[in-house]
Formats: sequence, C-alpha cells, structure tokens
Amino acid sequence: MGRLDGKVIIVTGGAQGIGRAYVEGLAGEGAKVVVADLNAEAAGAVVRALGEDGKDAMAVTVDVSNPDDAERMVSETLARFGRVDGLVNNAAIYQRPGLFRGPFDQIPVDEWDRVMEVNLRGIFLCSRAVVSQMKEQGSGKIINISSGTVAQGTANFAHYVTSKAGVIGFTRSVAREMGQYGINVNAIAPGYTLSMDEEDVNDDVRANDLRSVSNRPLSRSEQPEDLVGTVIFLCSSDSDFITGQTMAVDGGNTMR
Ligand SMILES: NC(=O)c1ccc[n+]([C@@H]2O[C@H](COP(=O)([O-])OP(=O)(O)OC[C@H]3O[C@@H](n4cnc5c(N)ncnc54)[C@H](O)[C@@H]3O)[C@@H](O)[C@H]2O)c1
Repeated sequence: MGRLDGKVIIVTGGAQGIGRAYVEGLAGEGAKVVVADLNAEAAGAVVRALGEDGKDAMAVTVDVSNPDDAERMVSETLARFGRVDGLVNNAAIYQRPGLFRGPFDQIPVDEWDRVMEVNLRGIFLCSRAVVSQMKEQGSGKIINISSGTVAQGTANFAHYVTSKAGVIGFTRSVAREMGQYGINVNAIAPGYTLSMDEEDVNDDVRANDLRSVSNRPLSRSEQPEDLVGTVIFLCSSDSDFITGQTMAVDGGNTMR
C-alpha cells in the first residue's frame, strides 16, 4: 500500500532534474502521475520508464506560461484519469535553459519578462486550471516550488530570486482563498541542489555547492531525492491541516 494510492498528481517540469525525482517518488507511493513539460522527448522517456516498472503515468507537452496549454494539461489529465488530486508547480526557467547571472542592471529586459512569464505566471495559470476540478472534489493539494535564494537574497540573479519570492506571496494569498474548498496550497524552498546532468557539473557548480555545504548544519550536497519526501508529505493526507506555508528543505542553510 502506497501513501498516495489512487491519487492523480500533475508535476510540471517533471521530465528532468528535481521534477523527475518528484515524479518517480510520487509514482512509488502509488500516485498516477502526469509529467507536464516543454521537453516532450524527456517527458516521454520518464513515462516509458515508469510504465516498464508497472506504474501508470502520462506525458503532456506544455509551456506552463501559455494559458491554453495549462487548460489542456488539465483536460487531458481528466480524460485519462478522471480527477486531479495534486499539482506540483515545479517548472521554471533555472538551468534548462540557463539564465544570465550578473548585476541586476545588466539583465536583458526580454529575459526578465520570460522568467516572470514561466516562473510566476506559469504557476498562476496551472493553479487556475486545476482548481475548478479540485473544488468539485472538495479537496486538492497545490505545491509551489520557490527557492532558498529568496531567504538568502542571492546576488546577481535578481530576476530569478524575484520570481521565486512572488511564488511565496501567491502561495499565501491563494491558500487563504482556497481553504474553504478543502484545497491546501503550500510552497517548498529547496537549497542549492545538484539537479544537473553529470556532464554539466563545472567549476561554478562545484563552487556554489561548496558554499552551500559549508553553511549547512547537515553538511553535505543536496540531491533531488532530498526533496521528494516533503512533496509526498504535502500531497498526502498527513498534511491536511497545513496551508500557506513555505518549507525550507536545504539542510538547515536558512532558518526562520
Ligand atoms: N536546482 C536547484 O538548486 C534549485 C534550488 C531551488 C529551487 N529550485 C527550483 O526547483 C525546480 C526544479 O529545478 P531543477 O534544478 O530541476 O530545474 P531544471 O532547469 O533542471 O528543470 C526544469 C524543468 O522544467 C521544464 N520547463 C522549463 N520551462 C518550462 C515551461 N515553460 N513549461 C513547461 N516546462 C518547462 C524543463 O524542460 C525542465 O524539465 C525549479 O522550480 C527551480 O527553480 C531549484
């Protein structure tokens, strides 16, 4: 018996990196998982691997910043599985594709806009698309992925950090609105996580990782798997009385 048997959970950006670990962890607990990603090939590969392991999953190709795609993501989920119990708003522009890192006054305006479109508007659009079904069911779990960079005020990454701060504001405001329908809305703030492919680990990655490790009471690198238990918890009935919260999962790097 899994903790999420019979639950249907959509994971945006679930084809690669941390999102893929969420997909595998949720499926391992018995959930039927929808892998919603811009990268159709990678999403298909994840679903095929789960199928070979006897898990029920489907891929949907979406750009979360596109309102029609967000609606289609939900209609295809309902057509296949008939309900939606969870939405993990994980897709973001972070490293796939990469972002400008440097002083805020040198961030290209187009890139600023695109980060807000995907990282913030995407969460708004995907949440908007699932709530009517969740209201009808009288239950639902929305988990928004923020970032530890907000608490740290990470420099030279202002567009990304700003978008992830917005995720926390959205989480709190929407949690207040959705409680009356039995819908929980929470956020997770991961620390610096080694989510890239092996061949993409370069000197910058090693330096960022070392800096994070040295500031953690739990003094080691963060792996995608370190975040999975919190997502399972927030999708499960164990978290039924928790809403509007942001959980830092970063080895103690930030404390509040
Ligand atoms: N890795 C870290 O150190 C770290 C730290 C804190 C927060 N986060 C957050 O965790 C989440 C996952 O991080 P990651 O390192 O796995 O990121 P990643 O860049 O490796 O993966 C992001 C995934 O989202 C998909 N995606 C990108 N734009 C999309 C769009 N418009 N529509 C649909 N899918 C899209 C990509 O194809 C990819 O599969 C992100 O929200 C990121 O901001 C990551």
